[in-house]
Parts: sequence; structure tokens; C-alpha cells
Amino acid sequence: MTIRVNGTEVSPPDDARVSLLDLLREHLHLTGTKKGCDQGACGACTVLLDGNRVLSCLTLAAQAEGSDVRTIEGLAGEGDDLHMLQQAFVEHDGLQCGYCTPGQICSAIAMADELRRGDPSYVTRDIAASPAPVTRAEIRERMSGNLCRCGAHNGIVEAIEHMLRETAA
Ligand code: FES
Ligand code: FES
Repeated sequence: MTIRVNGTEVSPPDDARVSLLDLLREHLHLTGTKKGCDQGACGACTVLLDGNRVLSCLTLAAQAEGSDVRTIEGLAGEGDDLHMLQQAFVEHDGLQCGYCTPGQICSAIAMADELRRGDPSYVTRDIAASPAPVTRAEIRERMSGNLCRCGAHNGIVEAIEHMLRETAA
């Protein structure tokens, strides 16, 4: 069974111990996805697996067999067009060194779907509300697994708010 990475079918590695992160970076040379801690603590390696955010350092490549993996390289449109959230990160100063940025963006895209589905978070007051209310506290809580050592969190939240406004039904 193959793994679909940004629309392209790829073979899983022979070694069943290879993480999804190492498959992406070392085997496929998709280095947009970053390795920070390699132990599930920073969020830099976040990618989309069948639309859900996962930490690729804690996911075996074999677990992605038969699934659709989307990385930062697969988000942009044709040519030089950026994804709406990539553009918002630029406009709202959501990055400095950029190391955490691919993970932040993948995480936020999946988080927006979680909000639309009404998935509650730790700070959701009314868990029956659907879609979940979009507050800064909600965004910060839901993005708390993605660390930014440069401290660009204010810009990151503003960029995400921008995307959520633009995509509101
Ligand atoms: Fe995966 Fe840090 S590299 S969580
Ligand atoms: Fe440098 Fe986030 S922009 S770690």
C-alpha cells in the first residue's frame, strides 16, 4: 500500500521503524516540515494526515499507508500563490526565524476544521455550541502544542483570526 504525499503516491520505507517525519525529510527531501524536539513536545513537525493534524515525529510512516499526507509544500496554490494562511502570516508578522512556521500553519488549518465541527477544547465554556466560539483564548489553547521560540505568538494568533474571518460561512 502506498502513501499519498501532497497528491503523489510514494512507497513506504522498507524499515518499519522510520517515522513519518524522517520519511518526509530524509527520504522524500520535503524539508519544509521541521524537526525540533523529535519527541512530541514542540509541534514543529506537524503535518496533515487525512486532514487531521499529527506530530510526524511520533507517527510511523507505516501508519500513513493508504492515507493522504499534506505538508507545507502541498498547501500553496499554483505557481507562486501562497495559501491564504501563509499570506496572513506574512501580513501579520506571524514569524521571525520561520522554523516553527510550517508546523504552525498545518496545525492551524486542521484546528479551523475542529472549530467548525464544534470540537470542544479545554477552555470551551459551552461544549454544546457548534461551531465552537472563536475567541483568542480558544485559538491560543488550541495552538498551545505549537511552540515558537521567537515569540511570534501574537502575530500567529492574528494571522489565524484573519483566516477564520475570511473563511467564516
Ligand atoms: Fe515533533 Fe517536536 S519535532 S513535536
Ligand atoms: Fe522562530 Fe517561531 S518564528 S521559532
